[in-house]
Amino acid sequence: MILLLALFAVDFQTEVKPILDKQCNACHDRAFYLRKKDKIVGSLAIMPPGGPGLNARDKATIGKWVAEGLEYPEVKKGLEDDLSLTRNLHGQIVKASAKDAFRNYKQRIPGSDVNYEMVAVPGGTFKMGNNAVADEGPEHEREVEPFWMAAREVTWNEYRLFMFAQISGEEAGANIAVDAVSRPTKPYVEMSFGMGIEGYPAISMTHHAANKYAQWLSAKTGHFYRLPTEAEWEYACKANAGPPEKLDEVAIYGKQQYELVGKKAANGFGLYDMLGNVMEWTTDQYQKEAYRNPQAWYPSKTPYPHTARGGSWQDKAGRVTCTARFASDPSWKQQDPNLPKSIWYHTDALGLGFRLVRPVKTPAPEEMHRFWNNGVAEDQ
Ligand code: HEC
Repeated sequence: MILLLALFAVDFQTEVKPILDKQCNACHDRAFYLRKKDKIVGSLAIMPPGGPGLNARDKATIGKWVAEGLEYPEVKKGLEDDLSLTRNLHGQIVKASAKDAFRNYKQRIPGSDVNYEMVAVPGGTFKMGNNAVADEGPEHEREVEPFWMAAREVTWNEYRLFMFAQISGEEAGANIAVDAVSRPTKPYVEMSFGMGIEGYPAISMTHHAANKYAQWLSAKTGHFYRLPTEAEWEYACKANAGPPEKLDEVAIYGKQQYELVGKKAANGFGLYDMLGNVMEWTTDQYQKEAYRNPQAWYPSKTPYPHTARGGSWQDKAGRVTCTARFASDPSWKQQDPNLPKSIWYHTDALGLGFRLVRPVKTPAPEEMHRFWNNGVAEDQ
C-alpha cells in the first residue's frame, strides 16, 4: 500500500517544478508557499495575475503537491519562518556577537559589495515628547539602553538585495536560515517611482516588510537587527541637544522628491537624515495616549496604525521634528494594484522608509521573534 502511494506521488522535479518555474517562481519563493500553504489551491483562480492561468492538469498537479505536504527537495533541510527559525538565528547571533566591542563599525552585506555604517549610541536618560502637541505629550523622562543605529536610512542598494534573491547572489540551500526568512513578492510597479535608486532611500515598504528585512539582515550577518522603538528613535534624533537651529542644514523637507542619503549634516551622535528625507518606521503600535502610561515599547495588536518618525521630503518644517509622530493608515495602500493587497508594499507612502538598530543586549528568542513578526501583516 505504501509502495502504491509512493508510485502515485507527484514528482517534484519533473512535474511540479516546471510549473512553478514557468508560472509562479518569478514572484514567489519556497518560504512563501510554505507560509501560504492553505491558500495555494484557492489562489490558482487568480494566479499568476493577469495571465491565462494554469490548465486543469497543472492545477491538479499543484493540488496534489500541496496535499502531499509541499515537498521542495532542493532545500530539503529548510526551516520554516517561525519561532524555530528565530531560535536557530538566536544561537548564531549569541555566538557571533559576544566579542564585539561597542564602537562604530562598517558592515558589508555578505555576498555583495554593499556596505552600511553603524553608530554606537550610548544609553542614557532624556525628556521624551512635547507638551505643545496633543499626541506628543505629556513630556516625560525616559531611559534607553545602549544600541548601535544605522548612520543612514536603508538605501535601495541594501533593500533590493532582500527584494531580489538573484541580485544578492543567494543560492538556495547555501544558508538555510537566510532561505527561510519570508521575502517580498515582486512588486508590479517600479518602486522608486522614477526618483532614483543608487544611494537613495528605500521607500514604501510595510511595517512587516521592514521587520523581515531586519530578520534577513540578521541571518546574513549574525547580528541582531530590528526597528528602533519610538523612545530609542527620539533619543537618537535629539542626541542630547535641542531642535536644530537651521533645519535646512540637517534635513530634506518640502521637496518634490527624496534625495541621496547622508547629504546633509549629521546630528550630535553622527546620524544623518534623522529629520526629513524619509520618515522612518519604529517597532511601535501607534497609541495617541501612549505617553500617559509609558512602556518600553508597544507591540502590535492591529495592522494599523504603527508609528513612523522624523517627517519626510513631503512634509513642511512643522512636522519635521524629533517629537512628531506619524500613524500608518490603510490609505497608504490605496492604489495597490495587487489582489489581495500586498503585505509588502505601501504603494501610496512615498515618504516612508526606515533604518535599523542593534541593541547591545541580545534579547531572548521569544522577544526577538516578537520584533521580527508583528503578527498583523495581513490587513484584510
Ligand atoms: C507576476 C507576479 C506573480 C506571479 C507570477 C504569481 N503570483 Fe501569486 N501573488 C502575487 C502578488 C503580488 C500577490 C499578492 C500578495 C503578496 O504580495 O504577497 C500574490 C498572492 C499569492 C497568494 C496569496 C493569496 C492570499 O490570499 O494570501 C498565493 C497563495 C499565490 N500568490 C500563489 C501563486 C501561485 C501558486 C502562482 C503560480 C501559479 C503565483 N502565485 C504566481 C504575484 C504573483
